[in-house]
Amino acid sequence: MENLVTYIEGLPKAELHLHIEGSFEPELMFRIAERNNIHLKYESVESLRAAYNFTNLQDFLDLYYAGTSVLIYEQDFYDLTWAYLVQAKANNIVHTEIMFDPQAHTARGVSFETVISGINRALKDGEEKLGISSVLIMSFLRHLSEEEAFNTLEESISFRTMITAVGLDSSEQGNPPEKFERVFAKAIEYGFLTVAHAGEEGPPENIWGALDLLHVSRIDHGNSSLSDDDLIATLVESQIPLTVCPLSNLRLKVVTNLSEHPVKIMLDKGLRVTLNSDDPAYFGGYLNDNYIAIAEALFLTKAEVFQLAMNSFLASFLPESTRQTYINLLNDFQYSESH
Ligand code: ADE
Ligand code: ZN
Repeated sequence: MENLVTYIEGLPKAELHLHIEGSFEPELMFRIAERNNIHLKYESVESLRAAYNFTNLQDFLDLYYAGTSVLIYEQDFYDLTWAYLVQAKANNIVHTEIMFDPQAHTARGVSFETVISGINRALKDGEEKLGISSVLIMSFLRHLSEEEAFNTLEESISFRTMITAVGLDSSEQGNPPEKFERVFAKAIEYGFLTVAHAGEEGPPENIWGALDLLHVSRIDHGNSSLSDDDLIATLVESQIPLTVCPLSNLRLKVVTNLSEHPVKIMLDKGLRVTLNSDDPAYFGGYLNDNYIAIAEALFLTKAEVFQLAMNSFLASFLPESTRQTYINLLNDFQYSESH
C-alpha cells in the first residue's frame, strides 16, 4: 500500500470539481476575519473545525455560506485562491477547473468584479509561478431564483473571457435542473460550456435533466446514476464524465462507508469517472487524500488509479494540444514507474 501511496502522490493529475469557497481553511478564515474586523461565531479554529460534523448536504452548506461572509476585498479572494493552488501543487495537480459561487458574495454586497479579479489574479500567478493551468466555472446557486441566476449571468458577461463554463450547485433537493433550463440556454448562447451537480442527494431524473435540459458536458457527482441502467448506457456511450468526490460523499453521508462507494463499479462499467476533492477544507482531505482513501477502501489496482488520472485529463476542458501534453506527462510517469 505504501507503494501505491507513493504512486498516487507522484501521478500528475487534473482536478475538475473544486469549489474555491470550499477550500477555505479555518486558519485563513480567522486571519481574514481579523484583518476585516469581522467577528466569527466560533471562538477558535478548533471549535470551528469541531462543527464540521455534517449529517447531510444542507448542514454543510449552512456552514459553508457562513464561512464566505469574511471575504470582502479583492485580496481576500486572491489569498483564498492562492492557498488552494499551493495545496494543488503539493498534490501534483497540474491542471485545475475551479468553481466559484458569485451569488454567495454579491448577495452580501461584494461586487462580482472584486470576486473574479482576486480569483483570476491568483490563477495567473498559479500559472506563472507554480506551472498550474486552470479554468474557471461560474456556478449558480440552485436554491435561489431563476431571475437571480439570469442577473448573475448578465453580470458575468463583462468578464466573459475569464470564465469557461457555468455550473449549478447548492441544495439539490427541491431544486431540479428544469428550474434553470432557460438560464443555461442563454449561457450556451453566450458560448459557455455547462456542467451541473446532479445525483449527489437527488435521483437519476436530475442527471437526465442535466443532460437533456442543461446540455452539460460533465455531471458533478452522479452517484445515483447507478440505479438507472438506461442512464448508465447513455453515459457510457457518450463518455460524459462524472466528477466524483469520495471524501465529500462520506462526510455528507451520501455513502455510509467508503467501502460502499460506487466509483469502482463506475470504472468497471466503462463510465468516464474522475476523482475530486469538492470542498477539501470541510471534508478532511485534498485530492491525494481522496485517491488514497478510495484506493485503500476499494482495493484499487495501480492500473485503475492510472485510469482515474487519465480520465481527469480526458474529461477536462483543456484545448486538445495542452491535453495531449499532460497525457504525455502522465504516460512518461507510468513508463518511469515500470522501468
Ligand atoms: N457547494 C459546494 N459544495 C457542494 C456540494 N458538494 N454539493 C452542492 N453544492 C455545493
Ligand atoms: Zn461540488
